[in-house]
Amino acid sequence: MSSMKDVQRVAIVDPSDSTRDPLRNLLLGVESVWLEADCSRYEFFIDVARQSSPDLVVVALDADHTKALQLIQQLVVECPNVPILAVSARGDGQSILQALRAGAKEFLTQPVVLEELLVCLQRLRQTRGTTDANGVFTSGASKSESMVMAVVGTRGGVGCTSLAVNIGCNIAQDKANNVALIDLDLALGDADVALDLMPDYTLADVALNIERLDMTFLRRSLSKHASGLSLLPHPVQMEDISLIHEDHLQRVIGLLRASYSHLIFDLSKRFTPTDMTAMRMADVVLLVAQLELSSLRNAVRMLHAFGTEDGMVEKVKVIINRVGGDDSDISLKKAEETIGKPIYWQVPNDFKAMLGARNAGVPLLEHAPKSRAHISLLQLANALCGKAEAEKKKEKRGFFSFSK
Ligand SMILES: Nc1ncnc2c1ncn2[C@@H]1O[C@H](COP(=O)(O)OP(=O)(O)OP(=O)(O)O)[C@@H](O)[C@H]1O
Ligand SMILES: [Mg+2]
Repeated sequence: MSSMKDVQRVAIVDPSDSTRDPLRNLLLGVESVWLEADCSRYEFFIDVARQSSPDLVVVALDADHTKALQLIQQLVVECPNVPILAVSARGDGQSILQALRAGAKEFLTQPVVLEELLVCLQRLRQTRGTTDANGVFTSGASKSESMVMAVVGTRGGVGCTSLAVNIGCNIAQDKANNVALIDLDLALGDADVALDLMPDYTLADVALNIERLDMTFLRRSLSKHASGLSLLPHPVQMEDISLIHEDHLQRVIGLLRASYSHLIFDLSKRFTPTDMTAMRMADVVLLVAQLELSSLRNAVRMLHAFGTEDGMVEKVKVIINRVGGDDSDISLKKAEETIGKPIYWQVPNDFKAMLGARNAGVPLLEHAPKSRAHISLLQLANALCGKAEAEKKKEKRGFFSFSK
């Protein structure tokens, strides 16, 4: 994901090894960070900062507060465009105020927690604007946040895993993207089968190590498929499901957002606390239905239940899968009326391509790149990523025109 432009080059100064090492390791684990310099003396740091011209400096205060605060004041003068992050075990109002008055932009208490560091890095990125080769000013904020999608079914076998896997592989085709699929169908998920991956680690390993989780460990826990898609599978042992709590998932999602441009969740159909957490944290919820009674009825019930959650219904995009199949005895127009929400996408029934790909353990783009199912899911992936061309085509093909 991180092209050189997205990388934040960081220089740190901390005379104390015992705090410098953990901080350095934390920074080294963040993919978007390039550790430019690492200094153990306050008095040398001005030169270090001048020479390395970092995007951000981190000043640890605790070895000598007076010297550290003087250094911050000096940095503000010498390197006025470089934001300063102060860190200290003293998190009282007075210490924070002193650091900010000296010229620090942000303050974190030691020991630094990864999530807080990531938020802080993001904020400091936004305060610093850059001018590109064409002289166009882009604020740091233009680096897009990651996009999180949850795929949820209206009954068993509606096609969630097929959609999640293929949308993921399609998005991963763009080398600028870094896409991860998290199998949250904790008991019976089969995303690993669909991709024919034999993962070394699963969500259970991540949950077991949740306390000392860092980005390096987390990234290593995902298996990379040839398409570029990374997978974090569900636990192998059924009894390990109980290891995975919703707050674990919250932490994992938060951390993955910092490393991946797109996250896709393949959910169970049981509305477990982990399913709900995933949907709450998602930007988009793809509700997969088919044109038959029980699926559509469940879609209505689910939307009704979502109504009690703030902002949930607005995130839902209804996808009708297997359109044109034998059992689709209900018209799209009728389905849309019943659901009371526009149908965002239709995926054609394409038994041969879908089943063949699943049995071969490869995505459609490899197994049947000319199939109708693949073309539809490729366009869906583009539309979800906001690629204008796909949107235009969609209009032309009249996806929304259910003439009366
Ligand atoms: N558009 C499609 N056309 C034809 N067959 C499809 C289509 N989408 C999915 N299928 C087939 O339907 C079956 C179920 O699909 P899939 O496993 O993706 O659904 P699911 O919702 O994840 O199921 P589960 O409830 O088991 O998790 C598979 O055999 C798959 O090949
Ligand atoms: Mg499934």
